[in-house]
Amino acid sequence: MSSLDKIVSLSKRRGFVFQSSEIYGGIEGIWDLGPLGALMKENLRRFWIKRFILEEENIVLIDGSSIMHPSVWKASGHMEHFTDPLVECKNCHARYRFDHLRDGKFIGQGKAKEKNQCPNCGKKEWSKPQRFNLMFKTFLGPVEDKAHETYLRPETAQSMFTNFKNVLNSMRLKLPFGIAQIGKCFRNEITVGDFIFRLREFEIAEIEYFVRPGEDEKYFDIWVKKWEKFFLDLGIKRENLRRYEHPKEDLAHYSKRTVDIEYKFPFGWSELAGISNRTDFDLKRHSEFSGKDLKYCDDQRNTKYFPYVIEPTMGIERTILALLCDAYTEIKGGRTKTTKPTKEVEILLKLDKKVAPIKVAVLPLVRNNLKIVQKAKEIYKMIKPHFACQYDEVGSIGRRYRRQDEIGTVFCLTCDFQTLEDDTITIRDRDTMIQERVKVDDLIGILKEKLEG
Ligand code: GAP
Repeated sequence: MSSLDKIVSLSKRRGFVFQSSEIYGGIEGIWDLGPLGALMKENLRRFWIKRFILEEENIVLIDGSSIMHPSVWKASGHMEHFTDPLVECKNCHARYRFDHLRDGKFIGQGKAKEKNQCPNCGKKEWSKPQRFNLMFKTFLGPVEDKAHETYLRPETAQSMFTNFKNVLNSMRLKLPFGIAQIGKCFRNEITVGDFIFRLREFEIAEIEYFVRPGEDEKYFDIWVKKWEKFFLDLGIKRENLRRYEHPKEDLAHYSKRTVDIEYKFPFGWSELAGISNRTDFDLKRHSEFSGKDLKYCDDQRNTKYFPYVIEPTMGIERTILALLCDAYTEIKGGRTKTTKPTKEVEILLKLDKKVAPIKVAVLPLVRNNLKIVQKAKEIYKMIKPHFACQYDEVGSIGRRYRRQDEIGTVFCLTCDFQTLEDDTITIRDRDTMIQERVKVDDLIGILKEKLEG
């Protein structure tokens, strides 16, 4: 089994990610987050908001709509430029992204054994590449004609530009300042795959950071460092991250400079996040198309101008995938030294405590002792309002520890015979397996210190 297959299998088995509409055979490029995936996403979101909204000086959060006025996409250039090159196999009519075929991404998959071979039928007869627009088209209201056509947003950025004046005036901001957003995006990708890496519906977390023209290059460098640090602080290993500078000829239509932060996924180094210098492109274009003045009044300099924009962006599902890949550890024969190594492979998910979906598990040492079970349930009830928590009494204590290790639970609390005598409980650390005994009365304070301190 490849390492990506192992992540896919764990994700399904333990409730991180499910295929959307699975009972109907699934739907390509669309996945659902299960109970643990949803908690992980919520943790990620909270940490992102803490880091970039609460701790930063001048960044505010908005929550824009997924459907916007169709003119937005004309002004932004998405109607014209948000395309990928598409080719069709003349033999079987399967369609692929031209650059994916050319760079050999499909080699070895399906019938493709060499470059430019159709992965479906193996032939090498292709139509000329055509530009294919990735935006999902829809209709506003009950009439399905050209006048009511619009699109699901392919990026969250645009509502931060169209709301530029609203935010500026309502929040009385001064440059430099940022507008931030986390939200759903939709792209009709020609080819999808690599689990939740390339999706048709996904979430982006991004900031439009407005600066004075001339200060853009300085802030670009600042944001590359801040963005990278975010992933390191999420616990991603340094050696699995690198920067990729986009060559000038590959830059998006709005970009003066783009640096990607790449992660070493099981299928190779690929984009996890990016930082672009969007210049004053978007504000100027929206001013032009809407007829509204979106210039900034600089009181200090007594002048008006279009600010430049630095845009750090990241995909939420890609970050979840990177976190799972980075944390996934297999231990042949198991970690317990007190018993004989088994033939089993133990899985340990070394997720950072900030993103681990379950922080604490409460386990009665045995389940055939009513008093121990009752006490464990009492403790579970007591700590549940404070931390994402699970109670588990099924199977041997060793098996239960392993079940929790596999989903990255940070601490296991074991209620045993001594608990009944002196009201103490053991706290087991996931990574070191060291157990410490503490008073039940002190438990919440100690766990708060360990998890949030
Ligand atoms: N506003 C800029 C923008 O949208 P992007 O590089 O096209 O930039 C931002 O997308 C981030 O969204 C990427 O860095 C990536 O993490 C994620 N992303 C892009 N396309 C994706 C897809 N099809 N599936 C999942 N995540 C995607």
